[in-house]
Amino acid sequence: MEFLKRWHAHFIANSSRRWGIMIEERGDLTDVEKRLIEKSIATFQLGEYSEGKGLLRAAEIFARQVDNEELVKITRLFIAEEQNHAMLLQRFMAMNSIRPLKKHWADSVFRGLRKGVGFELSVTVLITAEIISLVYYKALSASTNSRQLQAICGKILSDETGHVEYESELLKYIRNKKPRLQKRVVEILHGILFSGTVIVVYHGHRKVLIAGGYDFNRFRQACWAEFSSCFYSKSPSQATVSACR
Ligand SMILES: [Fe+2]
Ligand SMILES: [Fe+2]
Repeated sequence: MEFLKRWHAHFIANSSRRWGIMIEERGDLTDVEKRLIEKSIATFQLGEYSEGKGLLRAAEIFARQVDNEELVKITRLFIAEEQNHAMLLQRFMAMNSIRPLKKHWADSVFRGLRKGVGFELSVTVLITAEIISLVYYKALSASTNSRQLQAICGKILSDETGHVEYESELLKYIRNKKPRLQKRVVEILHGILFSGTVIVVYHGHRKVLIAGGYDFNRFRQACWAEFSSCFYSKSPSQATVSACR
């Protein structure tokens, strides 16, 4: 797993670019914009936060099995980036008097799916949500005129682009070690999970998505384009290209 050395260097370099937003007295959302995004952004903020204990434990077990030194270090840095996203969103919400959520059914389902299933499945569930979030944060950024929100979405998109590239490279490596039929079954099941999640996310966040320029068809196509560039593109940098467009 030589490629993990490269990803470890990436996460170390990115950790020095951890970025805070200016704490301003007032947020810059209008009342109409606030009503449009408040439930949706609070749901994503909840999803971004995790102590990451389960993922770290799964990474430690897997790292021992494959005798790799970087995986656990990468996972720690990865969890810190996710916590930073949660913190940025939470600060923005506080500046704009948006209340955080304590619980949401979709978040509980996703956490449940990742619990105790091992490293490969855990990363599979994680990347499913993250690929869709690449489209969501672009829509969120375009859905209001808030400069603060655009800056936060830009930072999250930049980090998440790295996350989906790293995780897809890891999953492709793991899948390529499986017998052909088993690999195909895993890919098909992942596609089914992805399809279902696209529908659930669209229905839960359609007001923001439509305001950001995505009706259902455009959203579905954009999500699948990201999925394909992660798993079926020959060039590893395709996801970056599309996510940063
Ligand atoms: Fe994130
Ligand atoms: Fe992420």
